[in-house]
Amino acid sequence: DKGTYPFFMLKEIDEQAIVARNLIEHYFVNGLPQIDEKILSAIKQADRLYIVAAGTSYHAALIGRRFFEKWAGISTEAHIASEFAYDHPLISKKPFFVFISQSGETADSIQVLDFIKKEHYPSLTLANVMNSTLTREADFALPILAGPEIAVASTKAYMAQILTQVILAAALAGGHDQLQAELSRLAIDLQTVIDGQDKIKELADTYLVHADRAFYIGRAADADVTLEAALKLKEISYTLVEGFAAGELKHGTISLIEQNTPVIALISQSKTAGLTRSNLEETMARGAKAMTIVTKNLASSDDDIILPALNGEMEMFGPILEAVPIQLLAYYTSLGRKLDVDHPRNLAKSVTVQ
Ligand code: M6R
Repeated sequence: DKGTYPFFMLKEIDEQAIVARNLIEHYFVNGLPQIDEKILSAIKQADRLYIVAAGTSYHAALIGRRFFEKWAGISTEAHIASEFAYDHPLISKKPFFVFISQSGETADSIQVLDFIKKEHYPSLTLANVMNSTLTREADFALPILAGPEIAVASTKAYMAQILTQVILAAALAGGHDQLQAELSRLAIDLQTVIDGQDKIKELADTYLVHADRAFYIGRAADADVTLEAALKLKEISYTLVEGFAAGELKHGTISLIEQNTPVIALISQSKTAGLTRSNLEETMARGAKAMTIVTKNLASSDDDIILPALNGEMEMFGPILEAVPIQLLAYYTSLGRKLDVDHPRNLAKSVTVQ
């Protein structure tokens, strides 16, 4: 039931702070992440993690990958399921496979699971719909607890997929002292961003509703988010959007920048913030209409969307806060064009064909 919401997508975006709190409540006991010891020991025996998923779930894998490497110290690769099924890289001696899916029924991912089972490789599925093909067929399954997601464009499931990976990575690392407190803080910050959506609607109206193309740029973890930002916007607003590593602009894409082309920069990583800003300035010198989405500790008063500060180690959570404005920009652009936000043309919620 949509309640008073015009579209499920907006309801689902708005639920994301609650989703974060539900995950904390489910997975933490006495401040420590609790994951079945069998799952942890199976993963710890692996020499490499392979995360396999499609679409938005693949984008969540890109974010999760960094936590498995930084916190748990396990080399991790994220793969597009439809590619891995027919063209996989050399697989390590002791691989462990993680499947990520909202529906648990994505044919491309099931194809990979069938293949790795024949090779007797161990697997875990993180899914929203439990008792689905991917949760039943994998060795282990964990719920991402987003609650029913109805809109074709995935929002709260993406959030829940990232957070579940964060919690799993922390459990693999043998706990992470402050994590429960940090995630609780993050849930409050998510609510702050959600509550600031009038400003985001205005920006969608001025920058995107009348644009036929747009670009998202970012570096490091922010570069991963540009892919999801672009997918969300193209999927429901039919704008031609590309998201990519900001440093790549000068290697080709900058030739597409014209007067008033929207370029949106995501900035939450201190090491690369200055570089992304200078890339954005290069596009402005060619006429781009530049927008910035920046965490407060890296922001100036000229920035457009200022997210709560993430200092020090907390910076790793940048992609989690950025998820909300990129979703809202897509939502309000689609709405501004009077499109059917929840049912974009040519798309199904669950893709059960290859
Ligand atoms: O159910 P899954 O998470 O396996 O679905 C994967 C993709 O089909 C899905 O994320 C799709 O990209 C969404 N429509 C994006 O919003």
